[in-house]
Amino acid sequence: MAVDLLLGLQWGDEGKGKIVDVLTKNYDIIARFQGGPNAGHTLEFDGIKHVLHTIPSGIFHENSINLVGNGVVIDPVIFKKELQNLDKFNLDYKKKLFISRKAHLILPTHRLLDAASEASKGKAKIGSTLKGIGPTYMDKTGRNGIRVGDTELSDWKEKYRALANKHEAMIAFYNVDIQYNLKELEAEFFSAVKTLKELTFIDSEEYLHQAQKAGKTILAEGAQGSLLDIDFGTYPYVTSSNTTAAGACTGLGVAPGKINEVFGIFKAYTTRVGSGPFPTELFDDYGKTMGKVGNEFGATTGRPRRCGWLDLVALKYAVQVNGVTQLMMMKGDVLSGFDKLKVCTAYKYKGETITHLPYNIEEENVQPIYTELPGWKEDLTKMNNASQFPKALNDYIDFLEEALEVPIKIVSVGPDRTQTIHR
Ligand code: GDP
Ligand code: IMO
Ligand code: MG
Repeated sequence: MAVDLLLGLQWGDEGKGKIVDVLTKNYDIIARFQGGPNAGHTLEFDGIKHVLHTIPSGIFHENSINLVGNGVVIDPVIFKKELQNLDKFNLDYKKKLFISRKAHLILPTHRLLDAASEASKGKAKIGSTLKGIGPTYMDKTGRNGIRVGDTELSDWKEKYRALANKHEAMIAFYNVDIQYNLKELEAEFFSAVKTLKELTFIDSEEYLHQAQKAGKTILAEGAQGSLLDIDFGTYPYVTSSNTTAAGACTGLGVAPGKINEVFGIFKAYTTRVGSGPFPTELFDDYGKTMGKVGNEFGATTGRPRRCGWLDLVALKYAVQVNGVTQLMMMKGDVLSGFDKLKVCTAYKYKGETITHLPYNIEEENVQPIYTELPGWKEDLTKMNNASQFPKALNDYIDFLEEALEVPIKIVSVGPDRTQTIHR
């Protein structure tokens, strides 16, 4: 059996959590393959809003297994809080939430290092979520990290101590004002590791291999978005993992030939939280309306998201890098009432018009060239069939499909599970 992937095509927060929840009924296993608690995936159903950070978004479905893959970095402290949030829903998660032994742990000092690094950068800061993501992946690739499976070994606390001591020296090297009480942070960390150990640790690549052989269906859930990819994103204003399709192979141990559908998810406009270039960013009333109507505040940090028009140059690039086979357009409802819509179809770059994403997309290098389309007035949030869509929305969808050469199969018209229209 093949594995399907679901990925964000922009700078994150496209609505991945919502769609994974909608699709979970079709899958036996939902697996996160990269990122960590920098992610905030929102699900809404039965009038309740849930935000997940590390736990896959299939957790609320009775029959799905949820797997945190080897490519994910886990902060036990945040993980414990996530589990506590689930307690009131009677999910029996111990039976259906598995953790890869090869996933790396975020230590308290990784979080402190993240803060120290950002503070030292001043204006050039990445705008990190400060969850320790960068330092943890640095230790992973530097071959110094501590993995979930290490906590089953007798000497892991010595390994921990050596790493934490090194981190403290590094924090001092940054010479910035970071206040902390490591004793307290460590007490919290070790108590949370104990909670983590109540779950089942597995050799997840073997588990997934056997599941595939047994004909189980698997959906890999991406975090962040393609433009935050460590290789293909707007470096250095990116996260520290491969958020694109290849990340699912390395983050789960799934062979490339086993990937079937690649669901690419995007907002009908664009948002970005944190620093970095954003060619179609708006500072006018259109942008403010997107932020207000779309309730564009980060699910992890609460920071306001920057808003702008849809950028087809960037979207096309993401479709290519990921090999997207089906598109899903989110938050079309937010654009209701706009008198006009603009879509960036090319960039002015060094005096030329280009339609691919160049090396530098900073404001001084790139100016967006727009095509203007008519807006629609109708409220989409109560619609339940594509036949009810206004003509201007259909025209918008047709325009995007033609440019991207991939069909838009789902249009989301509100945050709730039920506000999802299949085409
Ligand atoms: P993720 O990180 O990709 O899972 O996305 P987030 O959860 O961070 O952000 C998406 C936000 O948009 C959440 O608050 C969702 O509840 C909300 N949302 C998702 N789809 C829609 C939609 O079609 N319309 C509206 N208005 N909100 C949506
Ligand atoms: P989901 O999965 C939006 C951004 C941060 C910052 C940069 C690096 O909810 O879509 P990091 O903490 O990884 O060092 O931050 O990446 N970022 C996200 N933006 N959605 C996310 O996840 C993000 N995860 C990280 O704001 O600009
Ligand atoms: Mg999010």
